[in-house]
Amino acid sequence: MELHVLNHPLVEHKMTVLRDKNTPSSTFRELVTELVSLEAYEATRGLEVVDKPIETPVATMVGKAIAKPRPIIVPVLRAGLGMLDGMMKMIPSAEVGFLGMKRDEEHPTQQITHANRLPEDLTGRQCFLIDPMLATGGTLVAATHYLAERGAKDITAINIIAAPEGIEFVEKNVDPSIDFKVVVCAVDETLNERAYIVPGLGDAGDRLYGVI
Ligand code: URA
Repeated sequence: MELHVLNHPLVEHKMTVLRDKNTPSSTFRELVTELVSLEAYEATRGLEVVDKPIETPVATMVGKAIAKPRPIIVPVLRAGLGMLDGMMKMIPSAEVGFLGMKRDEEHPTQQITHANRLPEDLTGRQCFLIDPMLATGGTLVAATHYLAERGAKDITAINIIAAPEGIEFVEKNVDPSIDFKVVVCAVDETLNERAYIVPGLGDAGDRLYGVI
């Protein structure tokens, strides 16, 4: 597994505002969109392109265009939806599929799949899994295998914050034959007893949608 951490002063500044418990939901959503756009730049380095001949006002040239089949963006419901705008801004031609996986609050290390709106056949598709928090890693492993079993060509997870425990779990448990990469803005200290990332930002879904 390849791990990319965005080390950049702008990202650090935005992350500090994002984490602050006094930041209102409207600002939180804007920051998530901005951070995802920055992550998308790194995450899409391997995006496949084809030659595209065009005419500029001055000359003809061969440019590049995103190859087909189109890449697919997969937000993990609910919090992953908050990252969709930022991704769609960067790859407007991408298809969007939805995967509903959530932590079982009674057994925080396990996942429940509660929704799936994805093409059955993902053969040859480059997939971008978006979910703000890589906490235990359980959801990410399950979602990655779900996409790989449907034929995904490669899978890039884009998270805002990761816990070291989650990274280790993903490294150990994602099938090494899958072409898999993770892009994050920050790797935090640890998980607490309720599997929240510390210092983290709290419950990403609640903060995005104004539940607190
Ligand atoms: N999910 C969240 O929303 N926050 C955490 O800290 C961990 C998982």
